[in-house]
Amino acid sequence: MTEHVQVSTADGVLTIRMYRPEKKNALTRAMYFAMDQALELAERTEDIRVVLITGSGDSYTAGNDISDFRQSSPHEEPSGASMFGDRIVGFAKPVVAAVNGLAVGIGATMLLHCDLVYACEQARFRFPFVDLGLVPEMASSLLLPRLAGYHRAAELFLLGRFFSAAEAKAAGLVNHVLPPAELLGHALAAARAISAKPPQAVAQTRALLKGNIASILAHRSMEGAIFEERRRSPEAQAIFAAFIARTAA
Ligand code: COA
Repeated sequence: MTEHVQVSTADGVLTIRMYRPEKKNALTRAMYFAMDQALELAERTEDIRVVLITGSGDSYTAGNDISDFRQSSPHEEPSGASMFGDRIVGFAKPVVAAVNGLAVGIGATMLLHCDLVYACEQARFRFPFVDLGLVPEMASSLLLPRLAGYHRAAELFLLGRFFSAAEAKAAGLVNHVLPPAELLGHALAAARAISAKPPQAVAQTRALLKGNIASILAHRSMEGAIFEERRRSPEAQAIFAAFIARTAA
């Protein structure tokens, strides 16, 4: 396990806190594995009804740790990222996100698989894939246009610019924007409210809302193959190396 993911349970809600604030909670393989295990625990524990995911410091998460992208590792699949991704796409219980700051890369794409998303006023979002020489992941190339419309999705993916919590709400990615001091309390109250409801009705309502999970997983798998090809490309590897050299300088 890793100290960079904190897991706690109270009142039927399992909370996952990404806790690597000095690195903007960038997700390492160990963190993905820990998050996947926490989700697996929530899934098989009857008393846990809802999962809440949040970050620490000034960030939700700055996405995948870019040093992990650099390592060409065909060997140890499935990776933590892909296990976590598959788990959250098909997850059987409601997930609430409290976005306390920066949400970049998978920090933004995982929100497409959450049921309720609350963000603080300072939260900033970004889909940086094209700028990194990559393509979108987590089935976001399917789900973001569906949610926000093609042109808005194309703008956010192709320009890869930061956007505000207000813009994320306008795009449908966020339910409510809150002052930072109210964020976690509000998200927890919603999670607790759902945890008190009849679980089978909750599960079946989610299944109806989510639609065809198999087709989302199939899209994610197709996307993942292209992502992996891109990740290994000289174009992307040069961009990762430049990021690491910048922060090491
Ligand atoms: N992977 C690895 N390290 C990361 C990281 C990431 N995704 N995001 C941030 N960090 C690290 C930085 O290297 C830096 O480490 P250092 O203090 O040892 O130099 C530390 O976190 C703080 O980041 P910094 O860049 O100094 O903060 P900032 O406020 O100027 O910028 C970001 C924050 C998130 C805009 C910037 O760090 C960034 O663009 N990160 C990459 C995001 C990304 O592309 N993620 C991949 C998604 S697929």
